[in-house]
Amino acid sequence: MPIRFKDTYLKGFVTGKEFEAMESPTRDALETVLTGRGEGSEFLGWLDLPKKSADPEIARIKEAAKRIKEQCDVLLVIGIGGSYLGARAAVEFVKGQNYNALRKGTPEIYFVGRDLSATSVCETLNLIEGKDVCINVISKSGTTTEPAVAFRIFREWMEKKYGEGASERIFVTTDKQKGKLKELSDEKGYETFVVPDDVGGRFSVLSPVGLLPIACAGIDIDRILKGAASAEEYFTKEKDFSKNDCLRYAAARNILYRKGKTAETFVCYEPALCITAEWWKQLYGESEGKDKKGIFPTSVCFTTDLHSLGQFIQDGSPILFETVLDLLDPGYEIKIPKGGSENDGLNFLEGREIHEVNRTAFRATALAHTAGGVPNIVLELDSRDAYDFGYMVFFFELACAVSGYLLGVNPFNQPGVEAYKKNMFALLGKPGKEFDAIRENLKRNL
Ligand code: PA5
Repeated sequence: MPIRFKDTYLKGFVTGKEFEAMESPTRDALETVLTGRGEGSEFLGWLDLPKKSADPEIARIKEAAKRIKEQCDVLLVIGIGGSYLGARAAVEFVKGQNYNALRKGTPEIYFVGRDLSATSVCETLNLIEGKDVCINVISKSGTTTEPAVAFRIFREWMEKKYGEGASERIFVTTDKQKGKLKELSDEKGYETFVVPDDVGGRFSVLSPVGLLPIACAGIDIDRILKGAASAEEYFTKEKDFSKNDCLRYAAARNILYRKGKTAETFVCYEPALCITAEWWKQLYGESEGKDKKGIFPTSVCFTTDLHSLGQFIQDGSPILFETVLDLLDPGYEIKIPKGGSENDGLNFLEGREIHEVNRTAFRATALAHTAGGVPNIVLELDSRDAYDFGYMVFFFELACAVSGYLLGVNPFNQPGVEAYKKNMFALLGKPGKEFDAIRENLKRNL
């Protein structure tokens, strides 16, 4: 098991009895997920994604990734939310945050269409000047404003540069049949990949949504799927609560929530995992935060953020608990060299591995924070291997679905995301009666 639940720093916050009491509701919640009895069960397709490694679609992804690697210096991935975070998390998890500078034999990858920033667009246009480019535009609905705006701009750039040849460099991941993006792809002859109907954006990293850009970064997608399949095999079948760490994680966060810990801070000590934290925040935030319920997901990258948010966590409002992703093997070894004189006062660290110091910082912080009344869930993670990434993804997705049902919400919808979009369209003058009515209403508040 590449990821393991540790309760070392939960003692004093969650008792054995409380865990025992959660056993039956947590197992019931798992059953609800697996039997499709719960709300939102039309979106359970993510449960099957790990087993799809032999699908022709996966072979097509590998083939397209090979062509992209051969014909371009830069891959632009256009998407937002669930249509981008998983792929970026995987690239940084496995290849590191400096992937673009350190890669060998694979294209630079820039993620755009994830905001409405003129700066992002213009800087990316500068970055791709004089380079050969491919695009993977990803939008399940095909109508999301941010990626649609970015795609207009970069498609125009591609058509100016490559003429009709642009079509061979644009790869679209969208709905099987519907949506503007699908219509445009059919008209222009873009190669398309399918976002399955029964997989929501934030659960889609193991579908073509995540796998095509991940494969373009030279990451072994078979290993990712193998890791996920092994997590699926174990966590959906292991009925012994004490051995099912996925259920224990879901149960622990639910117990803490009911004790008033309404915010969960995802902690990592490796910059390579910081985007994994962003992916995790979206997964849990959109899945649980509804009906005036839910744990607010937030994140920090230590030890960097110990010098900013550490103060609040230690000493501020007592609403937080932490979930630490404790990485055992960062993939690098480097020792602290001899300093010569004792000027910096660090001679006692001579010859020690930096990672050992990092893990000591983790233990020291966990002890300090728990003493300050902040419970720590620890999830020990073996390595940054693609297999472990897949395993971790499935672990968090399943725990999220179980947590949603424990909380009594539908973990698979996101009704709250629509409100700002409608207001924005109304304020931008989108025609239609629905928007006229919103405009009238908003005028009163402006
Ligand atoms: O998880 C979700 O459903 C959302 O974050 C979507 O992924 C995001 O809004 C993008 O949607 P789409 O893929 O339809 O452009």
